[in-house]
Amino acid sequence: MSSPEWNNPVIKWVDSRLPVFSLMHHSTAGYPTPRNLSYWWNFGSLALTVLIVMIVTGIFLVMNYTPHVDMAFDSVERIMRDVNYGWLLRYVHMNGASMFFIVVYIHIFRGFYYGSYQAPRELLWILGVIIMLIMMGTAFMGYVLPWGQMSLWGATVITNLFSAFPIVGDFIVTLLWGGFSVDNPTLNRFFSLHYLLPFVLVGVVGLHLWALHTSKSGNPLGIEVKQPEDTIPFHPYYTIKDLFGMGVFFMFFLAFVFWAPNYMGHPDNYIPADPMVTPAHIVPEWYFLPFYAILRAITFDIFWFIPAKLGGVLAMFASILVWMALPWLDRSKVRSCKFRPVYKWFFWVLLADFIFLGYLGGKPAEQPYIIMAQLATAYYFAHFLIILPLMSKFETSVELPESIASAVLKKGDA
Ligand code: HEM
Repeated sequence: MSSPEWNNPVIKWVDSRLPVFSLMHHSTAGYPTPRNLSYWWNFGSLALTVLIVMIVTGIFLVMNYTPHVDMAFDSVERIMRDVNYGWLLRYVHMNGASMFFIVVYIHIFRGFYYGSYQAPRELLWILGVIIMLIMMGTAFMGYVLPWGQMSLWGATVITNLFSAFPIVGDFIVTLLWGGFSVDNPTLNRFFSLHYLLPFVLVGVVGLHLWALHTSKSGNPLGIEVKQPEDTIPFHPYYTIKDLFGMGVFFMFFLAFVFWAPNYMGHPDNYIPADPMVTPAHIVPEWYFLPFYAILRAITFDIFWFIPAKLGGVLAMFASILVWMALPWLDRSKVRSCKFRPVYKWFFWVLLADFIFLGYLGGKPAEQPYIIMAQLATAYYFAHFLIILPLMSKFETSVELPESIASAVLKKGDA
């Protein structure tokens, strides 16, 4: 990788000692990117934007938040009413969590559709799954901080799940709680970790981008770059496209912040936490609902050694961990669903199944929802473990274009 010649003496001086400007150059104007990236490739930069918004608003919120069970709820109310623009900070942070998941879910399903996880991007993908797990942990602990009814009871239900693990289960739960019930030590732990994990995310996202810049971006055709005409520089073409996407995205995001700030939340979390009163329905935030449905779908013991509760916990974790195996479950030589006439339909069924699971996760754990969730869970795993491997073996794909340039340019334009 050759470094650019800098004319400005200060830049030249700095760069020859610490090549930050060369690094910036290689990641922008000097970074060849496939010329056919669609708007589905905007969601990575959007995710990064939301991560930054979450960290900045979070840091300002902490200046006025008190992590103590007697004061947490009131300190949040004070932020909302008395702190200058506190309401804005909180609503941006609160809705930002939902936006983060919307963006990342789209980013992940883009990956499913275009086979972005296939070689040589396996590690990039696995880092993505790790990011998703950290995001889930961070969001879960953040939701506990306002210390409303859903905070307390959500934390109680989810931390209790760990007791399902044999031998070490109870020990883990006591460790998480810092005592024998969800109480002040639990709130302190969650606050501390909720502050720490976003910075861990920054580190893992850094690795994700490093892997991306090593294996280079994929593209909607799913074929690799073969010649210089297949690419254009990232800057200015995709910096502008990403900025445009951000403009549209912020309109969507801020519409929630200003006009429907509590739409995605639960009203019970405006009731101070009370260990003596259990809410009628304990539901997690919308972005956890598909996994919550899978957790509750296992109402029966699996063989003689996995009790139902443990089975539910294992199924829930497996439903995300199975994504890590995708590069090896999908043996197709063709990446993009554009050229996979049959598998393409299974992608849409999977998406519908996932949304349906989300719907079921919000319903009470009673019939007919239980049987529906069991069928939807069975289909979910069948997709990854049976349908995808079989499809990748037996499906006849459509012929691939010779190159990116030949597919997207008129003859002679290259
Ligand atoms: C904080 C969360 C995340 C951030 C900031 C982030 C950032 C990015 C960025 C900037 C790109 C390049 C632009 C693009 O392709 O959209 C990218 C690509 C990619 N990301 Fe992520 N990502 C995140 C989460 C994830 C997750 C959860 C997964 C998968 C489970 C994932 C998998 C991928 C893959 C496979 C690519 C390469 C796609 C291609 O080039 O065809 N990412 N990511």
